[in-house]
Amino acid sequence: MVKKVFVSRPYHPEAIDLLSEDYEVEVWPNKTSPPKEFLVEKVSQCHGMLMESYDIMDADVLGVSGPLSVVSNRAVGTDNLDIPVATARGILLGNTPGVLQESCADLAFALLLNAARRVSYSDREVRAGRWTMLDQTPYLGTDVYAKTLGIVGLGGIGEAVARRALGFDMDIVYFSRTRKPELEQRYGLRWAENLSSLLGQSDYVSLHMPLTDQTRGMIGHAELHQMKPDAFLINTSRGATVDPRALYNALLDGEIAGAALDVTDPEPIPSDDPILSLSNVVITAHIASGSTATFKTMALMAARNIIAALTGQPMPSCVNPEAGENRA
Ligand code: DGY
Repeated sequence: MVKKVFVSRPYHPEAIDLLSEDYEVEVWPNKTSPPKEFLVEKVSQCHGMLMESYDIMDADVLGVSGPLSVVSNRAVGTDNLDIPVATARGILLGNTPGVLQESCADLAFALLLNAARRVSYSDREVRAGRWTMLDQTPYLGTDVYAKTLGIVGLGGIGEAVARRALGFDMDIVYFSRTRKPELEQRYGLRWAENLSSLLGQSDYVSLHMPLTDQTRGMIGHAELHQMKPDAFLINTSRGATVDPRALYNALLDGEIAGAALDVTDPEPIPSDDPILSLSNVVITAHIASGSTATFKTMALMAARNIIAALTGQPMPSCVNPEAGENRA
């Protein structure tokens, strides 16, 4: 019997072709997530599913019985997956670390520079016809060179951001679940014992932690208050790590100088969200990993996770290898 694999987006031709060599592949034809009832049906029919981080695979979906043995996210983040339920059911979960950190770090640094030097603001003003004389004063920004960068979450992406910051002669401090003495040595990073210490000394705070129960709302009113009034917040992790109301108020009240966000909560951000009216905010459309090359590489890695799981080989990246022991 040929095994069935579901792919939740039509825009991964290389991954679809690769999977089609050995499996019967069904592709969701739309660019939006399939509805929950449809996902439930696929869980009950398919052996593998290639999903995006916007596709919610919660207990209602993953708890449904069927032949499903692997769900592979085309993402490094796994906050859309109910890991305990999948593990209990013996469903292996794949993700795509290691192939996107350079693209994500490029974008995080682009956002940092943009917010600091008011690039998008200046562009908006030029397009609106308000560049009427040679006068820099409305656009005066903040230097990046030799300032202090605080990195929250020193995984692969945080480390790649640190490497870029070295080129700007930045002083780099980090706060992470685990201390990384080897990276401290290699890049001259300083360890912050707690988040408050990092926030209080950084000119730029860049978030790189996964969204978990521990990090949800990690940057709220108290944390924003601990930042310097001339500091900037850069978020390329997940929108829900930051309390959106607290961020809006902090920006409005001048508690911080600006923010650059590739992720928001909710996402996409509604067009009438008041934060969009602030001139010291830059928002991009969750595009950190979105270079053409990385987009394709992630899709192929996600497909290879499925092929490995369905052929009993080690997956390129498995989030819950212990699920294998729970397979019927
Ligand atoms: C990721 O890899 O988690 C990116 O945010 C894409 O969803």
